[in-house]
Amino acid sequence: MSGLQNRILGRPIGKVPIMSATTQSNKDRVFIFDTTLRDGEQSPGATMTLEEKLQVAETLDDMGVDIIEAGFPIASNGDFEAVVAVAKHVKRATVAGLARAITADIDRAGEAVRHARRGRIHTFVSTSPIHLAHQMKKTEDEVIEIIARTVAQARNLVDDVEWSAMDATRTPIEFLKRCVDTAIKAGATTINLPDTVGYAVPDEHFRMFKEIIGSVPNADKAIFSVHCHNDLGMAVANSLAGVAGGARQIECTINGLGERAGNAALEEVVMALRTRADAMPYYTEIETTHLSRASRIVAAASNFPVQYNKAIVGKNAFAHESGIHQDGMLKNAETYEIMTPASVGIKETTLVMGKHSGRAAFKDKLRELGYELGDNAFQEAFQRFKDLADRKKHVYDADIIALVDDEVGSAGDRIKLVDMEVVSKTGGVHSCTMTLSVDGEESTVTYDGTGSVDAIFSAIKQAVGQQPHLVLYAVDGVTGGTDAQASAHVRLELNGRIASGNAAEPDTLVASARAYLNAFNRVMIERGAAAQGAMAG
Ligand code: KIV
Ligand code: ZN
Repeated sequence: MSGLQNRILGRPIGKVPIMSATTQSNKDRVFIFDTTLRDGEQSPGATMTLEEKLQVAETLDDMGVDIIEAGFPIASNGDFEAVVAVAKHVKRATVAGLARAITADIDRAGEAVRHARRGRIHTFVSTSPIHLAHQMKKTEDEVIEIIARTVAQARNLVDDVEWSAMDATRTPIEFLKRCVDTAIKAGATTINLPDTVGYAVPDEHFRMFKEIIGSVPNADKAIFSVHCHNDLGMAVANSLAGVAGGARQIECTINGLGERAGNAALEEVVMALRTRADAMPYYTEIETTHLSRASRIVAAASNFPVQYNKAIVGKNAFAHESGIHQDGMLKNAETYEIMTPASVGIKETTLVMGKHSGRAAFKDKLRELGYELGDNAFQEAFQRFKDLADRKKHVYDADIIALVDDEVGSAGDRIKLVDMEVVSKTGGVHSCTMTLSVDGEESTVTYDGTGSVDAIFSAIKQAVGQQPHLVLYAVDGVTGGTDAQASAHVRLELNGRIASGNAAEPDTLVASARAYLNAFNRVMIERGAAAQGAMAG
């Protein structure tokens, strides 16, 4: 990052055009329903451990998310335990558990969310002709009967029941009205009309909400909700159009994580509503200065890196490169910035401590970056910081973030790298000798590959005795300069399961080996057979 960018990022928070609380009325309040831990975690490769889910839930709760969808309790014991743990842990948000329109699903979801201060059962059934004919093999009348029965069952377990019409945007409007009417009569308090396949366009989405809310007789007894997927890149636009049409809950995920092209990104809908309150007179209770940290935590937990030019939270979202933009920014930041970096929690990238810095200074820096580590994790992170400071002249905030995310993300790994030596010769041999510890037991292997990375990855496969398929391998610099840490990202597929791994190290080959091992560890986490068959959109 240039000095100019540093100075720009370091300026004080500017005025953000936002309606004051006194001008806002409750009817303009938009509830934020985060589904990072359910729809987000369903993206192939985004599986999170229980500890990671708890960290994400705590982050969402702290930033003011109204409802956290913590998982799909029937999918596996792991999912059930995660929903229970989140329900017990979260202090203020409502905790939701997903259930198909099946008696056992609803009972299981009820069992999981009863531990929350406020628990919600979120049950769904498909309503579109294509789903009814090919997936469910049910008639419209049969679907109406299912809605009445399952919503009533959920309402017997909890007071807060959300009902979703899966594939609502491809459902004939008259049938959709019958479904919504039935769900509200049976006791649903929130009605969600998902754009499951990302097919809607904003104007038609607006009209769908307007018409349903305007014509279903008891529509005022429920809050309407949007849930948009991003297949055509319109998830955020469609969500906001739904709000203009009368919806007051947006279902979204941090970083837009989610099935296929993902869900509407929480940070985008929230900042759009805040920045353009003049055009969209609605508000949320999200503390926007937490957005950048939430993005980092979810990226690390899911091992899904954030694209550089991602709105709000991408590395380049507030970077100004062209001369004319930089000139304008120096004269007045509002020339090219519609919101301040500080308003989403981005602080100036500073040069931090060197090898003489002590524990107290490192702890302070971690706190400033939003990390609270337990004793063991802190000691490990501090040791790695010292090693890094010995090898690298300048240690930046980004280096520390990469180091801690890496440390936290690999904490439970059963297979660990102990030692590695790579020999590489132009036109000659590329060989890797590696010592790994598997559940504490060390073994050493040597492998010759067509290149260094091939030799490393093949050595690991040989040592572990499994042959996962490499889906993705990417390396990037954490900061600029040839002494920058390398951040490696690997995605593997094994027996139908996909998992991602990350690692940051000054040496690219070591980073690659550790990222591969991190993905390997995760792909072997048992998710339970039911999880594979019980995925929702
Ligand atoms: O996209 C969808 O339809 C869903 C439902 C389960 C709400 O995720
Ligand atoms: Zn979905």
